[in-house]
Order: sequence, then structure tokens, then C-alpha cells
Amino acid sequence: MSEELLYEGKAKKVFTTDDGSVLLHRYKDDATAYNAKKRGSWEGKGRTNATMSAAVFAYLESQGVPTHFVEQVDDVSIKTKRLEMLPVEVVVRNVAAGSLSRLLGFEEGRKLKSPIVELCYKDDDLDDPLLNWYHFRELGVADEDLAFCEELGLKVNAVLAPYFDEKGVTLVDFKIEVGRDESGQLMLADEISPDTCRFWDKETGEKLDKDRFRRDMGGVEEAYAEMLKRVTD
Ligand SMILES: Nc1ncnc2c1ncn2[C@@H]1O[C@H](COP(=O)(O)OP(=O)(O)OP(=O)(O)O)[C@@H](O)[C@H]1O
Ligand SMILES: [Mg+2]
Repeated sequence: MSEELLYEGKAKKVFTTDDGSVLLHRYKDDATAYNAKKRGSWEGKGRTNATMSAAVFAYLESQGVPTHFVEQVDDVSIKTKRLEMLPVEVVVRNVAAGSLSRLLGFEEGRKLKSPIVELCYKDDDLDDPLLNWYHFRELGVADEDLAFCEELGLKVNAVLAPYFDEKGVTLVDFKIEVGRDESGQLMLADEISPDTCRFWDKETGEKLDKDRFRRDMGGVEEAYAEMLKRVTD
């Protein structure tokens, strides 16, 4: 097998495969936050992120959302299509938290009137800033690609908010990435996991995501295990 490390990210390693159009993503137990200023690691994280991403991508595909997902290979690895990534992080929010609370002065937990979509520039040196369409044009990102990102974000939210609600979880917000395949089609890429979403228990409000790590709340391993259980049960 011609497995060559293509990219080592903070949370996973991405390898080439025999098939030039397919990649292998192997999820690590490592975590970073605040643009890698804070680091940690816990048992089972890679398994949760790989398995939840696989289950959620498969469900999104069944609901008509194009994704890069091919198959889950083992506990911590999935195969995906190889894409040319847009330098964009698409954030969709249903409830105020994190940077939106700071931006608008909203108390964390305030329900938004309707979902808010934000487009951020994927650039660690700049701390992934929130940009508008004029900025993206200057960076060479096409308007039609930005329009796709916003529509995709809203569609993913419309599918996943009820999906998680049924599992007793409020989808507070999430980040997705978008890429283009060889034929030119744009689709959902990267991962959907407690690293990239805020999940709050619907009844108790308990946080079941990476905020437990960011904010040193403890119980992070248990929270990831609980989310894996809710998605796979
Ligand atoms: N289908 C795909 N084809 C090509 N690259 C992809 C695909 N899906 C995801 N990627 C890219 O692979 C990398 C995954 O690495 P990882 O998420 O570990 O680190 P990171 O994104 O650099 O850091 P962080 O997520 O902590 O900001 C990202 O650069 C992501 O954009
Ligand atoms: Mg990433």
C-alpha cells in the first residue's frame, strides 16, 4: 500500500492511498485549542472523532448533502475523496457562545432568532479571522464559492440540528470546511466531531464538546465518550 503522509494537522494525519483520488484520515487522541497555544490528549478522542464524522457524513449524504466521505476503515480512520480545499471555515450558530458572544455582547446560551453563518479565513498565522465577501474577493475566493459555503452551512444545520435534537443534544454551533473534487464539484470536507461543534445536553445544558478542554472543566474524556454513544446507539 502506498501510504504517504501528506499532511500532519493538529488533530489528525492525512495520508495518500493507492487510489490517487482517495485520502486516509487517521484521527489522533491529541487536542489543541486557542490556535495550538493549549495542548492536551485523552483516550478515545480519535475514535470518537473518526466514528462520529463517518456516521454524520453518511447521514448527511442520505439527506442529499454532498460530502467527501468514502468509508470508515477502522476505529480511528476514514477514507475520503481527495479535494482542493477552500481557505474558508464556515461557522453556523443557533445559540450564542464563544466568539459570537464577544462580538455581539450576547450572554452565552442566548438563542438566536435565526441561524447565523460566518465565513472565516483558514489561516493560523492570522488566527482564522472572520472576514466579509470583499476580503475574500481580495484573497481570490470566488463569490459563487462563498455562496456555496453559506448555502451548504445552512443545509447542514437544517439536517443536523434535528438529528442531534433527537439524541438529546442541542447543536449550539459548528465549523465545517469545503473542498473541490477533480470534476470541479464543491462538497463538505474535513470532520464533524466534538472538536468542531458545540454540543449541549438538551435537558441539563451540560457541555459535551471541546469547550470542556478549552475551559479546563474536567470530564472531557467522558463527554467525548457520551457523544459517541449518543450517535452510535
Ligand atoms: N477531503 C480532503 N482533501 C484534502 N484535504 C482535506 C480534506 N479534508 C480535510 N482536509 C484538510 O486536512 C487537514 C486536517 O488536519 P487537522 O484538522 O488535524 O489540522 P488543522 O486543520 O491544520 O488544524 P485545526 O483543525 O486544529 O485548526 C486540514 O488542513 C483540512 O483542511
Ligand atoms: Mg482541522
